[in-house]
Amino acid sequence: MTDTYLNLVNAGFTKKLAKQLGLPRPAVLRRYRPGAPLVPGPVLVLHDDASSSDADALAAQLLDWDLDVRRHAPGDERYGAVVVVLTEVGGPEALSTPLLALGPVLKRLTPGGRVVTVSRPASSAASPAVAAARQGVDGVLRSVAKELRGGATGNGVVVAEGVPVGAPSVVGALHFLLSGRSAFVDGQLVQVTSGAGALPGDWDRPLEGTVAVVTGAARGIGAAIARVLARDGATVVAVDVPAAGDALAKVANEVRGSALQLDITADDAAARILEHVRSRHGRLDVVVHNAGITRDKLLANMTAEKWDPVVAVNVGAPLRITEELLAAGALGEGSRVVCLASTSGIAGNRGQTNYAASKAGVVGFVAASAPALAEVGGTINAVAPGFIETDMTARIPFATRELARRFNSLQQGGQPVDVAETIAFLASPQAAGISGETLRVCGQNMVGR
Ligand code: NAI
Repeated sequence: MTDTYLNLVNAGFTKKLAKQLGLPRPAVLRRYRPGAPLVPGPVLVLHDDASSSDADALAAQLLDWDLDVRRHAPGDERYGAVVVVLTEVGGPEALSTPLLALGPVLKRLTPGGRVVTVSRPASSAASPAVAAARQGVDGVLRSVAKELRGGATGNGVVVAEGVPVGAPSVVGALHFLLSGRSAFVDGQLVQVTSGAGALPGDWDRPLEGTVAVVTGAARGIGAAIARVLARDGATVVAVDVPAAGDALAKVANEVRGSALQLDITADDAAARILEHVRSRHGRLDVVVHNAGITRDKLLANMTAEKWDPVVAVNVGAPLRITEELLAAGALGEGSRVVCLASTSGIAGNRGQTNYAASKAGVVGFVAASAPALAEVGGTINAVAPGFIETDMTARIPFATRELARRFNSLQQGGQPVDVAETIAFLASPQAAGISGETLRVCGQNMVGR
């Protein structure tokens, strides 16, 4: 679905008019294109005194990506990104120097620029003062993200105690957050809990040689996931209901994968997936539980006909299929499970008690399944989209849709590809140290935490 308003305020006479009238002017987001630079300008690295050796290590990594790295911000130069390293910050007063240095640079960020903080979790701080500083980083980051304009975003990487900043998932998360792949991820803190994993040989094709199953792949976000995983090197098994067979075949052909017509709520769904991947592709590396439905009604008017299928498709099937694939030994070293949650499941949404129960259920299921996946050397995570331009959201009445679309820091809806890029990151080898998490792709939607 196209966002006509966004197009109008970014071109010609209507652009000028919107500026004169002071109307919101959502920017065209910087999205990933193979071959385009990782960051559209020099990258400034800032840090507090105690974090200088981590800042050195990350600056060396940025140089490794052929970026133009700066350690000071004199003059009026424009920057593509700022990385603020605060891993060893000792107390709240130590935040002022690096953050007051960040302030003036924000005005000099290029369109589509990035601010990325790197810090440690408050929960494992050695003292209340350290916890205050670490929690302070979260507050600053979420506020900075709300102040950025021009399609720039602010996100953070929170690195567990004992995990070095050079660990694959810290480096992988930094790469993702700097790149156009994270265009609609804003105001988020990615938690890295282990040093596991490996950096990809080719950052443009991190999924080379893998086989990925994507449910609900006939259209919308699922079709975008199939395309992005295939672009990143995966062989894709596209799954959808028989009624969507034609559209499914088209997507499978386009990505040179295979199609499996299957209702994921069927008793033998896991067995059929397994039989298909074993006979057609010989392996299984990634499962994306994307298929989902809505049947909205206020709880006062809710019926079992509207409640039960939503829970069965959105959380019951992913839960059972994952458990059965694990029990069958089909998910091994390096395996990745990624589920679709929703901001409705985090913040709640009027008329969506059934949907919110299912999507909050996904958040809980993913967190609780991380240990079982860790046992086999895999991970499980969820992605929670906010407002994404699809057939599902095109059915929302105009005024509600327009409000939902603008009610985030980027003042626009995301595209299916934005969700797909985040899923591809979580499916990659460099995300091995991230598990049990739910990562929002919502442009920093103003609802929920
Ligand atoms: P969509 O309605 O456009 O596509 C969903 C696909 O899932 C369809 O192709 C459908 O045939 C398939 N599907 C439904 N039931 C199935 C079953 N029992 N077995 C196999 N396939 C089945 O939805 P959209 O917008 O692409 O959403 C994809 C996922 O993202 C869903 O889980 C949805 O809840 C979630 N999501 C979407 C948001 C949005 O703004 N569009 C926001 C938050 C979450």
